[in-house]
Amino acid sequence: MKEIDIPEDITSLEEKYKLLIKQLKELLNRNDHELSNLSILTSALKQTFSKISWVGFYLYDKEKLFLGPFQGKVACTTIEIGKGVCGTAASKKETIVVPDVAKFPGHITCDSDSKSEIVLPIISKDDELFGVLDLDSSEYNSFNETDKIYLEEICKFLVEEILT
Ligand code: SME
Repeated sequence: MKEIDIPEDITSLEEKYKLLIKQLKELLNRNDHELSNLSILTSALKQTFSKISWVGFYLYDKEKLFLGPFQGKVACTTIEIGKGVCGTAASKKETIVVPDVAKFPGHITCDSDSKSEIVLPIISKDDELFGVLDLDSSEYNSFNETDKIYLEEICKFLVEEILT
């Protein structure tokens, strides 16, 4: 079984992402079930970045977002489009970086320890909403432009090479 192995001496965020993506391309497999690939991805992200307290997918059933594979504390199971950070990222089809969740209007608190968040929309090749990838941290301002760039690259790979 292939594993995620990010040596501790790699301290640069960008280098960690580059190595993670290289290994994800070996681990994720379009012949595996969608849930298996999404589960592998959440586990790989949680294992790689200690700043992540919760990571998971909310998938779109044409009506609402529902909880998919995740790593971390129990979480809310459904989110309306347009509600919370996830529902807003889904409706706007834009990545949202939240340095302080208390300052995001309508933030949905699943874990009272969560202090910052990044949510990325996952859009299929025909511009349909598939869901969102949600990452939380128990520290303020944990996610930045580098996270956005590389997490968007991971979501693009997921859509173009794995989910189709
Ligand atoms: N904070 C998210 C809800 C999901 S929990 O963080 C897992 C939101 O505001 O949409």
